[in-house]
Amino acid sequence: MAPICETFRREFPLPDLDATARLGAGIASGLKPGVAVALWGDLGSGKTTLARAILRALGVSEDVPSPTFTLVQSYDTKPPVAHYDLYRLKSPREMAELGFDDALADGAVLVEWPERAPEVLPPEALHVRLSLQEGLRLARLTGPGEWEAHV
Ligand SMILES: Nc1ncnc2c1ncn2[C@@H]1O[C@H](COP(=O)(O)OP(=O)(O)OP(=O)(O)O)[C@@H](O)[C@H]1O
Ligand SMILES: [Mg+2]
Repeated sequence: MAPICETFRREFPLPDLDATARLGAGIASGLKPGVAVALWGDLGSGKTTLARAILRALGVSEDVPSPTFTLVQSYDTKPPVAHYDLYRLKSPREMAELGFDDALADGAVLVEWPERAPEVLPPEALHVRLSLQEGLRLARLTGPGEWEAHV
């Protein structure tokens, strides 16, 4: 497996939706073509909420549906963003049909349930681990050092 780049590490408490919006704006400011953001976390930990916050910060004003059934939803933002939810992915081989490589070449990708196809993530992906324990929400971020300037 490719080495995971973890120069950047930060813990970000998410007590309310405003905190998620701030984190989303920070992540949005670091997106460019080739950037992958892996959103890890249990059911209900806040992955889609953070993806929505990122897309809102990029100017998406329409509804941001959860791509639970479509598996991918694409946005004509700057940069373009493809939002994946791999919960229902049957095999990592489906990622080719879902246009993952092109989406990552042409824009940034946000990936919920990356554990379904971890091999498609580039080694320099930003990893966001969301947790909800005893009512406390937390995001743990790891990735390349350039994220220091954004989050
Ligand atoms: N920072 C937060 N503060 C309060 N509530 C939050 C926060 N983040 C998310 N929530 C709420 O938690 C619930 C679940 O969030 P969300 O749908 O984003 O989770 P998910 O990780 O995408 O779940 P799934 O695995 O089912 O896709 C939603 O009702 C959402 O509003
Ligand atoms: Mg979700």
